[in-house]
Amino acid sequence: MTRTEMTGVADGRPLLAGIIGWPVLHSRSPRLFGHWFAEHGIAGSYVHLAVRPEDFAQVLRALPKAGYRGVNVTVPHKVAALALADAATPVARAIGAANTLTFQPDGGINADNTDGYGFLEAIRAGAPQWVPAAAPALVLGAGGGARAVLHALLGAGVPAVRLANRTRAGTEALAGHFGPGVTVIDWADRDAAAEGAGLIVNTTSLGMTGKPPLQIRLDAAPASAVVTDLVYVPLETGLLAQARARGLATVDGLGMLLHQARPGFRAWFGADPQVTPALRRAVLEGLA
Ligand SMILES: NC(=O)c1ccc[n+]([C@@H]2O[C@H](COP(=O)([O-])OP(=O)(O)OC[C@H]3O[C@@H](n4cnc5c(N)ncnc54)[C@H](OP(=O)(O)O)[C@@H]3O)[C@@H](O)[C@H]2O)c1
Repeated sequence: MTRTEMTGVADGRPLLAGIIGWPVLHSRSPRLFGHWFAEHGIAGSYVHLAVRPEDFAQVLRALPKAGYRGVNVTVPHKVAALALADAATPVARAIGAANTLTFQPDGGINADNTDGYGFLEAIRAGAPQWVPAAAPALVLGAGGGARAVLHALLGAGVPAVRLANRTRAGTEALAGHFGPGVTVIDWADRDAAAEGAGLIVNTTSLGMTGKPPLQIRLDAAPASAVVTDLVYVPLETGLLAQARARGLATVDGLGMLLHQARPGFRAWFGADPQVTPALRRAVLEGLA
């Protein structure tokens, strides 16, 4: 371990980052970063930053001055984070939201969105047999998570995305934003839309502990379909349990959470952290 790592100070700035959201105290990200700090021998700190929407701009501008190297951004600040950044990656601009902000030594804010990257990496790790170009995907939900998923799927070469959301208004606009590769399906037709799908993704909050279950029948899905859920509390949602009972491959939502954090850690702390079974155990400890 170098002297820099032992003192927790490098380039005159503390090894300090955090997750900014409202509410945010439930976030597992400090636990995730704590595991990587220990693994890499880095004396860093990663904290919850509970900031109300009306205070977000003021607090964000102050964080580089307070020595932060960057922050992860969660609900409800992802769109505002992109708008306030001084520079943004093409991915963040295409998704229309940022989840990873890197602060330059001069205070400048660079925005990125790693949710789609995390989503794809999790599927590649959990279902390596999935061939994006081989079949259409069915995506349930059209909120913030869905935007990153749509961008990732089209970028990976999925030939067509069927998008089903409870509220049709707004969903057409979202599909229009991503172009002819995305077709809007009526929420009532979601069971039939599983036919021929190579990947089925739940991006709604349904199925999460405390929310209603996601009602869908996977009978029409081909035997080769991979089923994944952005919800990771519980780890095995009703959707994943149904898929498993049908013999379909499943990927839980925790992998996306873990993989989306890797680029931030690399940018802020200069080490390349890995997603391992030990990391999953550390983050899962105490989850409902
Ligand atoms: N694993 C990860 O790393 C990760 C990353 C991002 C998000 N997530 C999870 O993904 C979920 C969605 O997050 P988000 O940020 O996309 O949320 P969001 O922007 O608020 O979108 C919520 C989505 O859920 C739908 N929905 C909510 N209640 C519903 C109901 N009763 N019936 C049908 N549809 C309903 C909404 O449909 P309407 O448009 O009709 O309201 C919308 O499509 C959350 O559980 C979040 O924790 C996980």
